[in-house]
Amino acid sequence: MGLKLEQVVPWGRSLLEYTQMFDLTQTDLQLRILDCGGGPASFNAEMTRQGYSVLSCDPVYQFSRDEIQRRIEETYPVIIQQVEVNQHCYVWREIQSPEHLGQVRMAAMRQFLEDFPPGKHQGRYRTHALPVLPFATRQFDLALCSHLLFTYSDHLSLDFHLDSIRELLPSCH
Ligand SMILES: C[S@@+](CC[C@H](N)C(=O)[O-])C[C@H]1O[C@@H](n2cnc3c(N)ncnc32)[C@H](O)[C@@H]1O
Repeated sequence: MGLKLEQVVPWGRSLLEYTQMFDLTQTDLQLRILDCGGGPASFNAEMTRQGYSVLSCDPVYQFSRDEIQRRIEETYPVIIQQVEVNQHCYVWREIQSPEHLGQVRMAAMRQFLEDFPPGKHQGRYRTHALPVLPFATRQFDLALCSHLLFTYSDHLSLDFHLDSIRELLPSCH
């Protein structure tokens, strides 16, 4: 996987945000979940702490915790500055301001960074990239993919999207 760290802009969401985005019910949370393109989200960390089953995959997991942390520290002020300049383009509701957004994202990414070394050792964080994943058919009950597909449509082709969805579907029931 020829990914370079300087191409990575780490930005991660929390379990609460995943739950609201995907409208996850208590029953959904009990399923065997794949978080594809999980990046530095704290979904896996928080779910594992509560006894649920999540496997996250992302090409960024080839890097070490320290490398990802350094990249977060480099890119964080740049992203927040861009959000401040473009704040009129966002709906500020649960998250009330660029500063609040920064706090919420950093809280999630800190949890990820703490969980990443043990989680990688336990096989909960795996270095794989769409559109080809190594998972068995029906290895999971639910595949989630947050802020990857349909988010970077300028860079990721229609074929990439179709191949990725075809890859994700048989991995679940
Ligand atoms: C904006 S982040 C979203 C992280 C997390 N899902 C969230 O919502 O907080 C997008 C993630 O997709 C990952 N990614 C990029 N290309 C990918 C691919 N081909 N397959 C899987 N993940 C990929 C990136 O490394 C990055 O961590």
